[in-house]
Amino acid sequence: MIIGVPKEIKNNENRVALTPAGAKELIKKGHTVYVQHTAGDGSGFPDAEYVIAGAKILPTIEATYEIAEMIMKVKEPIESEYKLIKAGQLLFTYFHFASYEPLTMAMIESKAICLAYETVEKKDRSLPLLVPMSEVAGRMAIQKGANYLEKPLKGRGILLGGVPGVLPAKVLILGGGIVGTQAAWMAAGLGADVTIMDVSLPRMRYLADVMPANVKTMMSNEYNVRTLIKDADLIVGAVLIPGAKAPHLITRDMLKDMKPGTVLVDVAVDQGGCIETCRPTTHENPTYIIDDVVHYCVANMPGAVPYTSTLALTNATLPYAIQLADKGWKKAAQDNADLVPGLNVINGEVVYEAVAQAFNLPFTPVEKYLA
Ligand SMILES: NC(=O)c1ccc[n+]([C@@H]2O[C@H](COP(=O)([O-])OP(=O)(O)OC[C@H]3O[C@@H](n4cnc5c(N)ncnc54)[C@H](O)[C@@H]3O)[C@@H](O)[C@H]2O)c1
Repeated sequence: MIIGVPKEIKNNENRVALTPAGAKELIKKGHTVYVQHTAGDGSGFPDAEYVIAGAKILPTIEATYEIAEMIMKVKEPIESEYKLIKAGQLLFTYFHFASYEPLTMAMIESKAICLAYETVEKKDRSLPLLVPMSEVAGRMAIQKGANYLEKPLKGRGILLGGVPGVLPAKVLILGGGIVGTQAAWMAAGLGADVTIMDVSLPRMRYLADVMPANVKTMMSNEYNVRTLIKDADLIVGAVLIPGAKAPHLITRDMLKDMKPGTVLVDVAVDQGGCIETCRPTTHENPTYIIDDVVHYCVANMPGAVPYTSTLALTNATLPYAIQLADKGWKKAAQDNADLVPGLNVINGEVVYEAVAQAFNLPFTPVEKYLA
């Protein structure tokens, strides 16, 4: 198959959908890989490394879309790319269709096959192409939190791990899923006194088994949240209720109960945030202060560490990309059920029910194409 890797053009997006190592794997299997000039630069992979791996470099985004049977991307196509997409072309990328109607309409019109990273799903309902970004954001939440706790950045002026003779900082993590667990590992590793709150007892039993002694678990409810925030130095929001807005576990009135200089990192900001006073911020301007409490609410945290994020993402996407290239999308989906819910739009028809519902569009069961 002919695979094209365009350069990401969304503002501040430095990831790339395929590394030179990934390109080599595809080429070894007989596929042809075209990479747009400088597509890997933002992640630290210059053209020359792709060439060594056997890929060919194309000068423009137009040439890359024109030649490819499968386009591998990171972010959803933006408006200037819509016209480049060809009927029957397979697009393998994040789409987040339900949040943007013009993109959905453009992809319907294009008659391309849209396989969305975010809805590829395993039998146990986990989302293998979202997990790596949650892992990055969870780990980064502590790195950022520790930084903003420093006095010059308006934090409490406390070192996460303390020093001999001085108690460590208290870290409260709301939600013990992927983000919360990775945040807990990082905070614990730095020596902080960590509490994870969740509503799932099985999850907390698991966490209690695997976490080190400086990580405790506690049932998440309003009473417990109100009690612990008074003493916390760093609070990480990592709650997710699939398909719903995040619940506000920390409300506006609670800020006055916190110590001045407490830092809130609301990773769940992309689902509305689990802290009422959270509003999305950017890497250029990541924080703001309300009632002496520092808020960090960057909606695309992994974007700040494109080298790690690209490798983490492509480790997860490459096995699927190889199946798609080897077999074509239809046979690959017939053979691997994970890929079936990834199919969102085929040949002008919406085959993912939630997307059809979101915009009141006709829904075609995906089975029509897989029979
Ligand atoms: N800002 C970013 O850059 C970024 C990056 C990756 C992920 N995220 C977001 O981070 C959030 C968490 O993602 P995840 O992958 O860890 O999800 P996850 O499903 O693995 O974990 C969510 C956890 O929240 C728990 N939970 C649900 N209701 C709760 C409540 N009332 N109190 C406490 N815990 C509760 C669940 O039991 C679960 O353990 C999501 O909103 C995700 O979109 C943001």
